[in-house]
Amino acid sequence: MKEQIEHLNKVITTLSAKTNEEVEALRIQYLSKKGEISELFNEFRNVPNDQKREVGQLLNKLRDSAQNKINDLKAALTDNNNNTEKIDLTRTPDTFPLGTRHPLSLVQNEIFDIFGRLGFVAAEGPEIEDDWHVFGALNFPPEHPARDMQDTFFIERNPDILLRTHTSSVQTRVMTTQKPPIRILCPGRVYRNEAISARAHCFFHQVEGLYIDKNVSFADLKQALLYFAKEMFGEQTEIRLRPSYFPFTEPSAEMDISCNLCGGKGCSFCKNTGWVEILGCGMVDPNVLENCGIDSKIYSGYAFGMGIERITNLKYQVKDLRMFSENDTRFLNQFQ
Ligand code: DAH
Repeated sequence: MKEQIEHLNKVITTLSAKTNEEVEALRIQYLSKKGEISELFNEFRNVPNDQKREVGQLLNKLRDSAQNKINDLKAALTDNNNNTEKIDLTRTPDTFPLGTRHPLSLVQNEIFDIFGRLGFVAAEGPEIEDDWHVFGALNFPPEHPARDMQDTFFIERNPDILLRTHTSSVQTRVMTTQKPPIRILCPGRVYRNEAISARAHCFFHQVEGLYIDKNVSFADLKQALLYFAKEMFGEQTEIRLRPSYFPFTEPSAEMDISCNLCGGKGCSFCKNTGWVEILGCGMVDPNVLENCGIDSKIYSGYAFGMGIERITNLKYQVKDLRMFSENDTRFLNQFQ
C-alpha cells in the first residue's frame, strides 16, 4: 500500500493537460468514485491496525495533492485562454480619429506661405507688455484713447504693464534689437476689453508685417499687398487703399478687397458696397524709427497689420467669432 501511494504521488506531480477535457479525464482517473485514489481508500480497511494511522495520513495527503494538481491544471488553462483572447496579433488595429488643424492656424500658415515667398520671416514677442513697446515707441500720444481702461487690459499701473492690444508691439521689439534690413511677419494673440458677442471678442489674433530697408516706398507696400490678396483670395481679386490714420504710420491706409462672395457686385456680406476691409497699413512713421534707434534719414519702411479671424471669416464665412475659441469639434471637424 505504501509503495502504491508513493508511486501515485510521483505520477501526480508529472501530470499535464492541454485542454479542459484532458483535465477532466485526469480527475476521473484519479479522484472520481472509481478513480485510482478512491480505490486505495476502499482497500484501507485491509491495512493492519498498527499501520492504519500512518497509511491514513499518507492517503489523505495523496488525495489533497491530487486535488491541488487538478485545480492548478485548470487554472493554468483559463489563464492561457484569456491571454490568447487579449492578444490577437493578426487583428487589424482600430483606427483612431485624426485631429484637424484649427481654421485660424490654417489661415495663418497660408499667410506665412505667401509672405514667405516675398522673403518675410517669423518674429514673436510677449503677450504681456509694457506701455512703451505697445504705445510709447509707436508714437501714440499720452492721451490716445487706445490707452484707455476701456480698451486695454492693465495688469499693473505706473509703470504700466498690460496685455498687448496689437502685434505692432513686436515691431518695437525687433527694431530695437535688430539692424535693417528687417523683413518680419509677427503672428499672435492680442487682447481688448470688449464685450463678447458674435462680432467681437476680448481676444483675437493678428499678423503684423514690417519691412525696413533703404529706399522702401509706398509702391513696394502696394505691390506686396496686391500679391497677397490675389494669392489668398484668387487671381480675380482687386484691392483698394483708402487714406486712414494710425499713430505709427505716415501716410496710413486701410485696404479693402473686392468682395469674394459676390465678386464685387454687392451683397449683404459687403453691405452692398462690393468691398470688404481686411487690413491697416502705411509707411513707418520716422518718429517710430528714431524711437527704436533706426536712422530715418537712411532707412524707410512699410508696415501692415491684419486680423486672422477677419481673413478666416472671408475665406470660410464663419458667422460667429466665438466659434473660434469654443473648441466645439463639430465646428473644427469641418476643416479637414
Ligand atoms: N495695429 C493696428 C491695429 O491693431 C493694425 C495696423 C495698422 C498695423 C496699420 C500696422 C499698420 O502695422 O501699419 O488695428
